[in-house]
Amino acid sequence: DSNQMWGGRFAEGPAAVMREINASIPFDKRMWRQDLRGSQAHIAMLAQQGIVDAGDAASIAHGLEQVAAYYEANGVAEDLTLEDIHMQTEARLADAIGPAAGRLHTARSRNDQVATDFKLWVRDAIDQTLAALTAFQHALLNRAEEHAASVMPGFTHLQSAQPVTLGHHLMAYVEMARRDVSRFADARARMNLSPLGSAALAGTGFPLDRQATAAALGFDGPTRNSLDGVSDRDFAIEYLTCAAQCALHLSRLAEEFVLWASQPFGFVSLSDQWSTGSSIMPQKRNPDAAELVRGHAGRIAGCLVSLMMTMKGLPLAYSKDMQDDKPPVFECHDLLGLCLAAMTGMVESATFRTERMRAVAESGFATATDLADWLVREAGVPFREAHHITGRVVARAEAQGLRLDELPVEDLIAIDSRIDARVFDVLSVDASVASRTSFGGTAPDNVRAAIREAREALS
Ligand code: ARG
Repeated sequence: DSNQMWGGRFAEGPAAVMREINASIPFDKRMWRQDLRGSQAHIAMLAQQGIVDAGDAASIAHGLEQVAAYYEANGVAEDLTLEDIHMQTEARLADAIGPAAGRLHTARSRNDQVATDFKLWVRDAIDQTLAALTAFQHALLNRAEEHAASVMPGFTHLQSAQPVTLGHHLMAYVEMARRDVSRFADARARMNLSPLGSAALAGTGFPLDRQATAAALGFDGPTRNSLDGVSDRDFAIEYLTCAAQCALHLSRLAEEFVLWASQPFGFVSLSDQWSTGSSIMPQKRNPDAAELVRGHAGRIAGCLVSLMMTMKGLPLAYSKDMQDDKPPVFECHDLLGLCLAAMTGMVESATFRTERMRAVAESGFATATDLADWLVREAGVPFREAHHITGRVVARAEAQGLRLDELPVEDLIAIDSRIDARVFDVLSVDASVASRTSFGGTAPDNVRAAIREAREALS
């Protein structure tokens, strides 16, 4: 108070900023359920081991239920003086049951507490994501079944390459989703060890039963090294890696929807529910949701990079930097949930313009490979030579503005006398896709078999 000009401000300002930079409650309040679950397991074990007497333990367990009910009804206040969800909950517990609340934190540190809470949260997030991936696959499978024989142009270099079926194209995304599922499941299995009981970093002298708390929380067992237990965030990075890969897949499908919904393609019309208009151009039907899925994939990749950068140089064990682990994981989960739900909705409700797809497939000389294959098969021509002959046929058709199957047979014979009228059997797009019967190929029967197999794997 000797300096009326700035003394108060100087003393107060840094403290306020310190509080602000230090507090995680604005975001980690999202883990309140996991925090309470962990505390319930911990207090039950402390009582079991005779570390806290049964009366206090019962009152703590009951108090934690009251705190849960309070949070459920009122939400979690962002009180920066209480710093994080762990201190917030302990303060609430003390309000509810008095000084016995102070016994809950016996043989525990916020370091093993937060690692446990966060693992529980990520595990729940993975379970939700797996459910969303299942719904996404059902949507794809239903539309693939409907369009197992609908011909569309297949592309390489975004140039018409060979005809495929829309069902086959959609099933490619089912394969991606299946790998995503297996990656998430794998990450979940690997992370499923409990850090609780690692204490601050070195373990504790109290006779804990770490197996018991691990089992109570659905873990396969306790982590094997206390330093690693409190400082491992691989599980969160691995979750983000799986999410980033999944988002990349969704982004590719989103990009295809954006392209397909454009007028030059005209392959798909998105439902009203999944389109937006323009405030100035009345004719517009914009695929905003697909564009945002494409955009969000970039942000999700950013979340992964964010946490990798947080962790890359941290000495063991806990450092406060690690508090920054949560915002990117929470953001990723929210974004990925939106992306999966949006793509599922778009796939379910899209109108595929199969006539237009077929017309484009027929117009791009997409059966040229079939002609070359016919020359190899029926006339014994070496493939390289067949490729050359077919190239001349395509040039002729292009010059005359005709499709391959519209060229007069005399023109074909003039190019190579080994060609005869039987070639027309393979020049239609339907004949082309029907012939692709190799395992994993686009023949409609193969597509139907692939759908059956995928449905069985899902159930
Ligand atoms: N809010 C902290 C976090 O999210 C909890 C752990 C704090 N531990 C500590 N020793 N300061 O990481």
